Amino acid sequence: MRISDKAVAERLKELEVELRPSVPLTEKTSLGIGGTTDELLLHHFDTIPQVMRLLADEKIPYRFLGGGTNVLIIDGELPWIILHLPATRPGMRIEGNAAYVDASADLGGMVTFCAKNNLGGMEGLIGVPGSVGGALRMNAGAYGTQIGTHVREVELYRASSGEVETVRGNDIRFDYRHTSFAPDDVMLRVKLELPSKPYQEIVAGIRVCNEKRRSSQPLNQKSAGCIFKNPPGGSAGRMIDELKLKGHRVGDAMVSDRHANFFVNVGQATCTDMLKLIDDVRERVRAAYGIELENEVIVWKN
Ligand code: EPU
Repeated sequence: MRISDKAVAERLKELEVELRPSVPLTEKTSLGIGGTTDELLLHHFDTIPQVMRLLADEKIPYRFLGGGTNVLIIDGELPWIILHLPATRPGMRIEGNAAYVDASADLGGMVTFCAKNNLGGMEGLIGVPGSVGGALRMNAGAYGTQIGTHVREVELYRASSGEVETVRGNDIRFDYRHTSFAPDDVMLRVKLELPSKPYQEIVAGIRVCNEKRRSSQPLNQKSAGCIFKNPPGGSAGRMIDELKLKGHRVGDAMVSDRHANFFVNVGQATCTDMLKLIDDVRERVRAAYGIELENEVIVWKN
């Protein structure tokens, strides 16, 4: 999708929004998959309501892209533009046991920044790729930690009201890879409350998690992390592995031979390849175990 109207481009400039034309999303996603579209970089949170009103008035469809690490996007010319909040450095500050972090900040960067300030509790999240905003929306978790546990406040743009609002942690539901945020809420900042812990102790915990992750996950390949959520009481990875599907492929989309719930792009995989592989594996698991696996990866189709 192209923003070709000069008046709209001019208005965006006034709102200090940077317009990048024809961006291939293969370069913006950890899977290396996705079509092409215009991208808007929203450098200032305070103009977001005006930008959103402009897009609504001009009937320009959009999607927010965070770190691009848990999303599978269709190929070709996309029917929406992409909005992105560029990261500002450091994008976080500490006050006592509270950490105030921009949604655009890198999740791993947040864990280490807090560690350097002797605040722990998030060691398990260290190797989870992506932005803090994406982690909040999905309630990212690993090795017994999930981000929602520590959230005290979230500042967000609420599309339904057209306003920036602050929501208290107690008013947000954080479940396994799911939250009560509306799909069109835009995460802006979070306040976390973290337990005090000596830096060396946190670093030791981080090392253990890094080692576990390195030994079981294909970290050097293009992936979106786990493709499916684990079913209650079960493990998607183990079931796919038991079905001997490691290495199974459709085009250049392949079930990782390291961790069976990671599907990797081993070359020029398209979204169509990846979706076929996902459906094929889901069908085989359903046939063998009677369990319908639910996507963890977010699919942007239309
Ligand atoms: N297993 C296999 N074969 C495989 C993969 C796993 O037999 O190919 C077995 C393991 O041996 C283990 C069990 O399945 O007994 C569980 O595997 P693992 O410990 O790797 O954890 P997981 O349930 O597959 C979850 C999260 C990961 C997170 C790890 C560590 C989900 C869908 N996945 O994986 O998160 O890193 O635990 O906490 O909840 C992600 O969300 O993208 C992600 C990678």
